[in-house]
Amino acid sequence: MSKSTAWKFGIFVVAWLCWTSLSFGAQGAITDPVEVTALLAIKRSLIDPNKILGNWNRGDPCTSSWIGVVCLEDGYLHVQQLLLLKMGLSGSLSPELGKLLYLEIMDFMWNSISGSIPMEIGNITNLKLLLLNGNKLTGTLPEELGYLPNLERIHIHQNNISGPIPVSFVNLNKTKYFYMNNNSISGQIPPELSRLSSLVHFLLDNNNLSGYLPPQFSELPSLVILQLDNNDFGGTTIPASYSRMSKLRKLSLRNCNLQGKIPALSLIPNLGYLDLSLNLLNGTIDGQRLSEAITSICLSNNSFTGTIPVSFSNLPRLQILSIANNSLNGSIPSTIWQDRALNGNGRLTVELQNNKLSNITGDTNLPPYDTVWLQGNPLCSNTNLVSFCGSESDAENKNQGPTNNTSDCQLQCPPPYEPSPRSPKAVH
Ligand SMILES: *[C@@H]1O[C@H](CO)[C@@H](O)[C@H](O)[C@H]1NC(C)=O
Ligand SMILES: *[C@@H]1O[C@H](CO)[C@@H](O)[C@H](O)[C@H]1NC(C)=O
Ligand SMILES: *[C@@H]1O[C@H](CO)[C@@H](O)[C@H](O)[C@H]1NC(C)=O
Ligand SMILES: *[C@@H]1O[C@H](CO)[C@@H](O)[C@H](O)[C@H]1NC(C)=O
Ligand SMILES: *[C@@H]1O[C@H](CO)[C@@H](O)[C@H](O)[C@H]1NC(C)=O
Ligand SMILES: *[C@@H]1O[C@H](CO)[C@@H](O)[C@H](O)[C@H]1NC(C)=O
Ligand SMILES: *[C@@H]1O[C@H](CO)[C@@H](O)[C@H](O)[C@H]1NC(C)=O
Ligand SMILES: *[C@@H]1O[C@H](CO)[C@@H](O)[C@H](O)[C@H]1NC(C)=O
Ligand SMILES: *[C@@H]1O[C@H](CO)[C@@H](O)[C@H](O)[C@H]1NC(C)=O
Ligand SMILES: *[C@@H]1O[C@H](CO)[C@@H](O)[C@H](O)[C@H]1NC(C)=O
Ligand SMILES: *[C@@H]1O[C@H](CO)[C@@H](O)[C@H](O)[C@H]1NC(C)=O
Ligand SMILES: *[C@@H]1O[C@H](CO)[C@@H](O)[C@H](O)[C@H]1NC(C)=O
Repeated sequence: MSKSTAWKFGIFVVAWLCWTSLSFGAQGAITDPVEVTALLAIKRSLIDPNKILGNWNRGDPCTSSWIGVVCLEDGYLHVQQLLLLKMGLSGSLSPELGKLLYLEIMDFMWNSISGSIPMEIGNITNLKLLLLNGNKLTGTLPEELGYLPNLERIHIHQNNISGPIPVSFVNLNKTKYFYMNNNSISGQIPPELSRLSSLVHFLLDNNNLSGYLPPQFSELPSLVILQLDNNDFGGTTIPASYSRMSKLRKLSLRNCNLQGKIPALSLIPNLGYLDLSLNLLNGTIDGQRLSEAITSICLSNNSFTGTIPVSFSNLPRLQILSIANNSLNGSIPSTIWQDRALNGNGRLTVELQNNKLSNITGDTNLPPYDTVWLQGNPLCSNTNLVSFCGSESDAENKNQGPTNNTSDCQLQCPPPYEPSPRSPKAVH
C-alpha cells in the first residue's frame, strides 16, 4: 500500500466510522423520521393563529422540545403524548395522526378544530386517552376507533358528531370513560355495549338517540354513571333490570320521552342522584327506602299518582326532593323535613307544587333552613297551612321556584360523581 493510498484509506475509515456512529450509535437521540413527517403534516392541517406551534420546524421534535410533544425512547425517539389543549387551534385533524404509533395520549381538548375524526386514529393501538372534546368536529364516529385495545378514555363530548355509535365499540373492553354528550349522535344505543366490562361512566346526554334503553346494560358490572338526558326514546320504558345495577351512583334520564312505571330503584345500594324529570312516567312511586347516599330525587313533570311515600323521610344526605307537576294526592308526611332537621345535615329543598295534595301529616313547623314549595295544591286552601303556600303576593314569586338557586335538579352535581377529564401533565 503506497503512502497516498494508505492516507486515502485512513480518511475512508474515519468517514465510515462517523457515518455509522451517526446512523447507529446516535440512533436513540433522534425522532423516528416517519413521525417527524407526520407531525409536520399535522401542523399543516391545523390553523394556529397564536403561533403556538412556532417551533415545530426547528430541529428534532423530541430533542428540541416541540411544544406539546412528549417522547419516549425505543431505538428511535417516539411521540408518546401530544398535548395541545386550549391552544386556540382551528383547521382540521390530519389523517397522518395515525402514523404516531407510539402515542398514548392525544389531547386536542377545547380548541376550535373542525372537520371529521380521522379513521386512521384507529391504527394507534397504544392509545390510552383520546381527548377531542370541546371542538367543532363533525361527521360520524369512525368504526376504526373500536379497534383500540388499550383505550381507557374516549372524550368526544361538546362537538357536533352525528350518525350512530359503531357496533365495533363493543371491542373497547378497557374503556372506562365514555364521554360523548352534547353532539348529534343518533340511532339506537347498541345493546352489545353491555359487554364492556370496564365501563364506569357512560355519558350520551344531549344527543339525538332513539330506540330504547337496552335492558342488557344492567349487566355492566362497573357502571357508576348513566346519563342520557335530552334524547328521545320514543315512549319506551325504563327496564326493570336497571334495579340490579349494583355500582350505580347517578342515573339521569331527564326529558327522554320515557313512559310506564319506574323500576325498584331502592335495590341500588349507593344511588346518590336520580333525575327522571320531564318524562311521561306514571303509576305510584315505590314505597321502599332509597339508598342513604341519595342527595337528589328529581321526578317532576311526570304523571305519578298515589301518595308520597313515608320512606322519603330521614334520608341523611338528601338536598332536593322534587316531584312537582304530577298528580300525587293524600297527605304529605312532614317527617320528610323534620327527621332530616334533627340530623342537621344541611339544607333541604322540597318541591311539590302543582299536585293534588290535601294535607300535611305531623308537625307543621318548618325548620329554618329548609324550603318547601307547595303552591298549586288543594291544601293551600286550608287556612292552617297557607304559610307553606306563601302569601298572595309572594305566591307569584314562589310559583316559579327559586330560579338561580341550588334547588334546580339540573344544577345539583354531587362533587365525586361528575366527569373530570384528567388534566394532562406539564406541556413539554
Ligand atoms: C391505517 O388506517 C387506515 C384506515 O383505517 C388503513 O387503511 C391503513 O392500512 C392503516 N395503516 C397501517 C400502517 O396500519
Ligand atoms: C350539528 O349538526 C347537525 C346536522 O348533523 C345540524 O343540523 C346542527 O345545526 C349542527 N349544530 C351545530 C351547533 O352546529
Ligand atoms: C379484552 O378483550 C381481549 C380480546 O378479546 C382479551 O384478551 C382481554 O382479556 C379483554 N380484556 C378485558 C379487560 O376484558
Ligand atoms: C349540552 O347541551 C345542552 C342542550 O343543548 C345545553 O343546555 C348544555 O349547556 C350543554 N352542555 C354544556 C356543558 O355546554
Ligand atoms: C334526529 O333524529 C331524527 C330521526 O330520529 C332526524 O329526523 C333528525 O334530523 C335528527 N336531528 C339531528 C339534529 O340530527
Ligand atoms: C301508564 O302509562 C301507560 C302507557 O301510556 C299505560 O298503558 C298505563 O295504563 C298507565 N298506567 C297507569 C297506572 O296509569
Ligand atoms: C311541566 O309540566 C307542566 C304541567 O304539569 C307543564 O305545563 C310544563 O310545560 C312542563 N314543563 C316542561 C319544561 O315541560
Ligand atoms: C312545573 O310546571 C310549570 C309550568 O306549568 C313550570 O314553570 C315549573 O318550572 C315546573 N316545575 C318544576 C319543578 O318542574
Ligand atoms: C288519590 O287518587 C286516587 C286515584 O288516583 C284515588 O283512588 C284515591 O282515593 C285518592 N286518595 C286520596 C287520599 O285522595
Ligand atoms: C289534616 O291532618 C291533620 C293531622 O295531621 C288532621 O287533624 C286534620 O283533620 C287533617 N285535615 C284535613 C282537611 O284532612
Ligand atoms: C338571583 O340572582 C340575582 C342576580 O342574578 C340576585 O339579585 C338574587 O338575589 C338571586 N336570588 C337568590 C335567591 O339567590
Ligand atoms: C339560595 O337562596 C338562599 C335564600 O333563599 C340564599 O341564602 C343562598 O345564598 C342562595 N344560594 C345560592 C347558591 O344562590
